[in-house]
Amino acid sequence: MSKTQETNKKKLWGGRFAQATSDVVEKFSASEHFDRRLYPQDILGSQAHARMLSRCGIISKQDAEKIVAGLEEIKRQIRQGSFEWRAELEDVHMNIEKALTDLIGEAGGRLHTARSRNDQVATDLRMYVREQIMKVDRLLAGLQGAFIHQAREHMGLIMPGFTHLQKAQPVLWSHHMLAYFEMFKRDRLRLRDCLKRVNICPLGSAALAGTDFEIDRYMTARELGFDDVCTNSLDAVSDRDFAIEFVFVLCTVMMHLSRLSEELVLWTSSEFAFVELPDAFCTGSSIMPQKKNPDVPELVRGKTGRVYGHLIALLTLMKGLPLAYNRDLQEDKEALFDALDTASSCLNVMKFLVAGMEPRYDRLQEDTKTGFLTATDLADYLVKKGLPFRQAHEVVGKAVARCIASNRELTDLDLAELKSLHPSIQEDVLKVLDVKGSVDSRNCPGGTGTEAVKEQLKEAERWLAGFQLL
Ligand code: ARG
Repeated sequence: MSKTQETNKKKLWGGRFAQATSDVVEKFSASEHFDRRLYPQDILGSQAHARMLSRCGIISKQDAEKIVAGLEEIKRQIRQGSFEWRAELEDVHMNIEKALTDLIGEAGGRLHTARSRNDQVATDLRMYVREQIMKVDRLLAGLQGAFIHQAREHMGLIMPGFTHLQKAQPVLWSHHMLAYFEMFKRDRLRLRDCLKRVNICPLGSAALAGTDFEIDRYMTARELGFDDVCTNSLDAVSDRDFAIEFVFVLCTVMMHLSRLSEELVLWTSSEFAFVELPDAFCTGSSIMPQKKNPDVPELVRGKTGRVYGHLIALLTLMKGLPLAYNRDLQEDKEALFDALDTASSCLNVMKFLVAGMEPRYDRLQEDTKTGFLTATDLADYLVKKGLPFRQAHEVVGKAVARCIASNRELTDLDLAELKSLHPSIQEDVLKVLDVKGSVDSRNCPGGTGTEAVKEQLKEAERWLAGFQLL
């Protein structure tokens, strides 16, 4: 290392240090290679801070103007790719501050008055999460739109509904699609709720105890678009539960995406063959020429574990930290960023997949003919004729057993055989055994009847058009 670099480094930590930081430590502790993505927030935060310092008479107006303009220039350089990031300057904050001082001289050295990197990084991160909440919300809205498209496009299409992955009762394809709409709706509501706790400003908490300068925290908070200022400076610099909460929401999003993925993997198998995915969203095999594999949903299902892992990493990161700031907190970013990037890419690709998938009418129609999907309807029919439900259950159970033994479906029984099951059975039983009749008898709110599902679709469209995060 040259003499000048050596002195430069010493300057980084000021007079207290007799030795420059070891290269090993420098490398080990640097975060600029990942936290540089916070540069827009860092610059905005610093500009607001400088303006506030000057309005409060702590630095001169000229210095504040120089700082604001200098930071604009640095932003331009970063965007353009000409900014020189230096690992020895540790993080995004010091890289920008050093570049500012190099650019505008002494005024740059006044920016950090009444501020610490501790409140600075917490502020940057909150602004970043706030922005990303908006982006994730838009991705979720796009996916919801794809489910609405599927529900609208194929209204009336009947498919088997499952419990325990065993055929249960017939349901509408649209009903199934709108079930996912609901899940992602709740995720968006969770995001909105999370945003309330994210959008509070730590700036002014300084290192941990606040500052003896007469700053105006509300001025910076307002300028940066925060709803309020953090109440307690110790908490403000050391709390990351806002990020944990956001990652938790990403985890529930991934959990929902993973359930969907699992269904798509099953549905595209030849055993189900319920849907056809667009060729452009599938892959072939390098050895088996016949294959069309659902790699995208498989990857989404796999990446879910990765996002869950980040949540656990963050919770574990926090669990042993004494107040207030500890350097451990630097580890929050990669977990957060990767959870975010992963979930965002999954949401994006799944929107295309959902919008482009084609239900196979032929197969679904065929598949609703088997599996005794209307057995419950037959039991309910007997109840309506006066039998107690348990007794009706028994009668139908026996009929199903008889069918299984003779390799038939309930619909294969002729009227005489049906009547022989129980004296109260009459000709009107036939429409009860029909899957379409079954579906359309379920028009209670939330049910699978065509009228009920049309109502759900209308409500979903209304909700999607009207929901706004702020
Ligand atoms: N890079 C640090 C982080 O991400 C910034 C804060 C550093 N503060 C400190 N006292 N060393 O947490």
